[in-house]
Amino acid sequence: MDLFRKKPMNTALHEKITLKKELKTFDLILLGLGAIVGTGIFVITGTAAATTAGPALIVSFIIAAFSCALSAMCYAEFASRVPVGGGAYSYIYTIFGELLGWLVGWLLICEYLLANASVASGWSGYVHGFLDGMGLHFPQALRASYDPANGTYVDVIAIAITLIVTYIVVQGAKKALRLNNLMVIIKFSLIALFIVVGIFYVKPVNWTPFAPFGLKGITSGAAIVFFAFLGFDAVSTAAEEVKNPQKDVPRGIIGSLGIATVLYIGVTLILTGIVPFTHLDVKDPVAFAMRFIGHDMIAGMISVGAILTLLTVLISMTYGLARLVYTISRDGLLPITLSEVNEKTKTPHKATVVVGIISAILAGIIPLNQLAALTNIVTLMVFVIIAAGILQLRKDHGKPKSGEFKVPGVPFFPVVSIIVCFYLMFQLSLTVWIMFAVWLILGLVVYSFYGYRHSRLNDEN
Ligand code: ALA
Repeated sequence: MDLFRKKPMNTALHEKITLKKELKTFDLILLGLGAIVGTGIFVITGTAAATTAGPALIVSFIIAAFSCALSAMCYAEFASRVPVGGGAYSYIYTIFGELLGWLVGWLLICEYLLANASVASGWSGYVHGFLDGMGLHFPQALRASYDPANGTYVDVIAIAITLIVTYIVVQGAKKALRLNNLMVIIKFSLIALFIVVGIFYVKPVNWTPFAPFGLKGITSGAAIVFFAFLGFDAVSTAAEEVKNPQKDVPRGIIGSLGIATVLYIGVTLILTGIVPFTHLDVKDPVAFAMRFIGHDMIAGMISVGAILTLLTVLISMTYGLARLVYTISRDGLLPITLSEVNEKTKTPHKATVVVGIISAILAGIIPLNQLAALTNIVTLMVFVIIAAGILQLRKDHGKPKSGEFKVPGVPFFPVVSIIVCFYLMFQLSLTVWIMFAVWLILGLVVYSFYGYRHSRLNDEN
């Protein structure tokens, strides 16, 4: 039994590539920003400032960004040296072999499904707020996920939006991304407006006390706002549809993460500068801050912008998840039918529909608030394995050639990345660790009973 059999590194060369190669750096940066900038900055920032870190949330953001930047560099080197679709899953499959590769794929499926579902629930919350404002009230039972104590059973809007997004993504990468690009531009204009208007209302006194919850608050805050950066890896899952993956994918990853970091720091500084942090525990902190200083119209525009924004996160997440499932299935570790590509649209339509339906069910029924933490722990584990993967890649294949992206300071930075990720994981609760363990065990069971027997690598023996 060979659990460490490896996918060949040049697999892209002898696989028949059927996806259209049409994306460039700019598309990828927008794809990354579409996936990254969403619930994290528009929703979680407020609660995290009010209850976990105070104005020092900006430091939490810097720690989380630092951790993600280290991982992004590792992703970038992999993307430029192992140009196959499937992102972290394929990288680890080629470097550490099938078992770890599968587990990374399994963790990523969990990350994307949960993130997708929580964003859909968040979106539904915004839409209900909007509809309530116009006097259109949904029956209580259909407003949110299963929580009989609150009289809610199923979140119809979350289900509907997930299915609509699935339909859009099935129609083709370019079409979905064109819509994504437009929305990213709208979202950025609104964030810029927030910063430009807000800056005149900043009262430095609001930044004191700076760290009311101490160092513990800052590090727990970092483990929470880490969520706001998730999605940059979606860029690497699109490698097969990129014209020049060796150059464009690293640029797309690092570019989108860098831009998001600058934006987050700006928004957090202004947010905590204009509103005393104790007031920020609201569902729509960014719009709330504008109302706080009497700019109701801008607040309204930001709310509508947030509704569009969360839609872009959903599109990018669904897009990335479908490509991931497509690749895993093409390798035989999930049923092969999921890797069928539609003749007309050239997209993995079955994989997209399946992940869309599962996300819709999760979003509609399961209360996902607490599960954002599970999304984070799962992703942090993937980042640990990716950093270890760079060490192994250098050991097995040497340094990158000229023209390929190179992580600076190996082994120092990958080792720091591993330590920082573990540190953030330990900021999360025991319950989250238990759920994480259950998901991992389930993954091992699926591999033993399905993946190991159906792996395409069996054909080569
Ligand atoms: N980074 C994504 C968001 O904040 C998941 O919505």
